Amino acid sequence: MISGIGIDLVHVASVAESIQHYGDQYLERVFTRDEIAYCGAVPSSMQRYAGRIAAKEAAMKALATGLDSGVDWLDFEVTNEPSGEPRLRAHGLAAEILRKKGVYTMRVSLSHLPEYAIAQVIFERSRRQALLYWLRRLYRNRTAE
Ligand SMILES: CC(C)(COP(=O)(O)OP(=O)(O)OC[C@H]1O[C@@H](n2cnc3c(N)ncnc32)[C@H](O)[C@@H]1OP(=O)(O)O)[C@@H](O)C(=O)NCCC(=O)NCCS
Repeated sequence: MISGIGIDLVHVASVAESIQHYGDQYLERVFTRDEIAYCGAVPSSMQRYAGRIAAKEAAMKALATGLDSGVDWLDFEVTNEPSGEPRLRAHGLAAEILRKKGVYTMRVSLSHLPEYAIAQVIFERSRRQALLYWLRRLYRNRTAE
């Protein structure tokens, strides 16, 4: 069953501006080494970077923990299968939150044009995992009262 969805639209020119202005410092703060290698390999690299920012923001929305949860840009990474199909991977705090929520599958889809990039993310978990998550939350709230 679906446990979270997120969508995000990114202006490619804004990303290109940040990359031109802050260079490697920006790239390394937002993207993993593999993402930089994948995006940098084509002339339309700014679209690909923007697509990955959209995917990371969509994933943060699907996580539904709020922007101040401490989840970092590098906590979500987009990789590509040899077919080109994108995959979303989680690291650090995001991986920990997903584990607690019982999310076992993350789906991502990307699309980009010269002006905008868009991404959608869906998290899935089993009914049993959802029930356990809500029971644990209920117990924590009860004991905190
Ligand atoms: C895959 C395809 C649909 C991409 O569409 P497009 O209009 O050229 O380009 P878009 O900007 O909309 O999408 C590009 C993104 O599609 C995703 N993509 C590429 N191949 C994919 C695949 N086999 N399955 C799912 N997504 C794929 C990638 O995330 C890519 O962005 P990225 O390289 O930055 O990661 C197109 O290239 C294609 O092969 N069409 C033929 C029909 C087909 O195979 N459809 C796949 C249905 S699953």
